[in-house]
Amino acid sequence: MYKINYNNIGYSYNNDSKDTLLSAALRSNIGFPYECNSGGCGACKFELIEGEVEELWPKAPGLSIRDRRKGKLLACQCKPTSDLEISISNLTMEQPAYKPTNFSAKVIERQFLSEEMFALHLHTDSETSFIPGQFFMVKLAGIGTRAYSAANPVNGNKLTFIIKTVPDGKVSQQLAYSDVVDLNIDGPYGTSGLTLADEEKSVFIAGGSGIAPMLSMVQTLIRQEYEKPIFVFYGSRIEDELIVAKELFGEATNLTLINVLSDSLPGSDWQGETGYIHDVLPKYLDDLTSTEFYLCGPPVMINAMQKLLMVENGVSFSKIHFDRFF
Ligand SMILES: Cc1cc2nc3c(=O)[nH]c(=O)nc-3n(C[C@H](O)[C@H](O)[C@H](O)COP(=O)(O)OP(=O)(O)OC[C@H]3O[C@@H](n4cnc5c(N)ncnc54)[C@H](O)[C@@H]3O)c2cc1C
Ligand code: FES
Repeated sequence: MYKINYNNIGYSYNNDSKDTLLSAALRSNIGFPYECNSGGCGACKFELIEGEVEELWPKAPGLSIRDRRKGKLLACQCKPTSDLEISISNLTMEQPAYKPTNFSAKVIERQFLSEEMFALHLHTDSETSFIPGQFFMVKLAGIGTRAYSAANPVNGNKLTFIIKTVPDGKVSQQLAYSDVVDLNIDGPYGTSGLTLADEEKSVFIAGGSGIAPMLSMVQTLIRQEYEKPIFVFYGSRIEDELIVAKELFGEATNLTLINVLSDSLPGSDWQGETGYIHDVLPKYLDDLTSTEFYLCGPPVMINAMQKLLMVENGVSFSKIHFDRFF
């Protein structure tokens, strides 16, 4: 057992757990700043004051060259190998609503939704608890660990991921095309789940596989008979994904789904919106106040949306919940 101290908070680290510093803190019900748990965002940066760590991914893009020069490290990519004294400058650290746990799941079905995207339906060995919008880490032994967002509302032992295959992607290709059935999963993680307050409407904006957490959140709202307007803007370069999105989101009187095809190919008879979501959105929403925004997709899409909402329209940062898929 190692003792970890940071900013006057202390917790114990079980040496047999193979946990990272971040997971161990959250499992001890201690808040720690983070976003992606995947080495991409840099939100979990810390400074090592005393002790030693093993870095799991020394070249993780979440640290800049300047960060490395200053000796910064990522809590989601480090395991302690002694007692530690560390310091964190990012003080946004809420206690987790649900402590992440390790559990097993069986693949029940792989359902292809387009040539690149599939739903992985799982039966978990214990009931899952999460806030819609949160994600889980799927660990494939000897291959890698990747984050996938829950695509269904909380539903006992059922858990669904919607995954895009990445060309030569180690984990996505394996999950799509191998006959792997037994999975090791850890979660939930994530800090940008469904947040209901005094908003007048909720707006969901997703690109590609960013549809997964949006489905979990929107279907939860529909089940809870949420009566305020729900707008979903979904962008993809693949027409089949836009067609399937209609079926996946379903219908509700207060739900408006705007599908946006990013590239209309020659010969396409697509009649809907085309281009970037950040260009299309202002046509549908003229009032962006009293609105909760949920953004999910590649970092470049999130950056463009944040610029539109915060810089050009003065939307407060606290009203924008986002997950960048690194
Ligand atoms: C919060 C979050 C939620 C996500 N949710 C979804 C989802 O719902 N659906 C979906 O399709 N995708 C999702 N992703 C993306 C997903 O986690 C994978 O990045 C994607 O499937 C590609 O993985 P791959 O192994 O197939 O590709 P690869 O090209 O083999 O791996 C790419 C990714 O692996 C990680 N990585 C690379 N090298 C290392 C290393 N040495 N150690 C640790 N990590 C490494 C990086 O995150 C990188 O982006 C999410 C990502 C994040 C951060
Ligand atoms: S949470 Fe560690 S880099 Fe994103």
